[in-house]
Amino acid sequence: MSKLLAAGAFAVLRFSSHPALAAEGETLKGLASAKGLLYGAAANYSNLRNDVQFRAAFLQQCGLLTAENELKWAVLRPSRSTFNFTPADWLVDFAQQHKLAFHGHTLAWHHSIPGWLQDVQDPAALRTILVDHITTVVGRYAGKVRSWDAVNEAVQPEDGRPDMLRNSLWLKALGPDYIDLAFRTAAAADPHALLVYNEHQIEYDTPDQAKRRAGVLRLLQRLKNNGVPVHALGVQSHLRAASNSFRPAVFRRFLSEVAGLGVRILITEMDVTDRDVQGSAAQIDSAVANTYRDYLSIALQETALTTVITWGLSNLYTWLKTESPRPDGAQSRPLPLDNNLQPTAAWKSIAGAFRQMPNRS
Ligand code: XIL
Repeated sequence: MSKLLAAGAFAVLRFSSHPALAAEGETLKGLASAKGLLYGAAANYSNLRNDVQFRAAFLQQCGLLTAENELKWAVLRPSRSTFNFTPADWLVDFAQQHKLAFHGHTLAWHHSIPGWLQDVQDPAALRTILVDHITTVVGRYAGKVRSWDAVNEAVQPEDGRPDMLRNSLWLKALGPDYIDLAFRTAAAADPHALLVYNEHQIEYDTPDQAKRRAGVLRLLQRLKNNGVPVHALGVQSHLRAASNSFRPAVFRRFLSEVAGLGVRILITEMDVTDRDVQGSAAQIDSAVANTYRDYLSIALQETALTTVITWGLSNLYTWLKTESPRPDGAQSRPLPLDNNLQPTAAWKSIAGAFRQMPNRS
């Protein structure tokens, strides 16, 4: 046995006596950064602060942190005149202390709107509120946030508008230019942040998702033509293990078209729901792992894609537990680490895809 193998075996033995940490050695952040890619995950304040073992695993695997909920209006803005920065400050400080990149989520979204904001009718007042919010929040963290989801999920072809934009509170009051305004205001508050347009349900080859992809390309093109500082597309990537609608050629072409507009690409919220997969635990885990493998092996061919974020790191803390529980009551296992913070089959797929991808420039 070579010295290297012996050392590796020792590391595994040493760490297996500590069930909360994965064996030392390869990590997702290490495999990613060897190719010039940044890997990280969403987490929330209470889990990172209170669960010491989760925190250690997070630091072991991740080079980037995003706040799962703490920068959303519903958390940040208890009222029109107040901000609740405590949880977000903690997360941004945590990232600074541990030299993690930070991804901010999100500045303008139709969802997570506090009650007081829903009651504001006057367009001029809404404009002021949006500009003040973005100026205050982005300004507070300027220099500490690498990237911001400036606008989230603004395309919704089902709403029937010719421009395919969602008929959100912001759009109804301010028209389509609320998007331009959000990006320009964020850029003014932090000229160095990477500003992302983030979108969901654009990964699969279904008629609805094809329309949304067309709407996203159209929006990005319009923003670019108008000189709006949009630097990247965020592809959320909430995937389904039971889906048979992923067409590599369709998705690959979409990513090329996005890159052709001169914007970078981030995978911003990747996870794989197993809610419609039947079978043994091992069969479910392998369906999830195969979904990661098939998706990433295509997505990572596009070198404009420079960041991969999973929506959570451990199955212990996944939003799918409550948002989309399995009908059979079994626990969801959508993420790279299991409940004991050990690598899952999904971890191996992600690691394998990182090993095989081309170098980012
Ligand atoms: C989710 C969080 O994970 C949950 O904790 C919360 O209850 C609802 O929001 N797309 C997004 C994210 O852009 O903000 C959502 O996060 C998941 C879907």
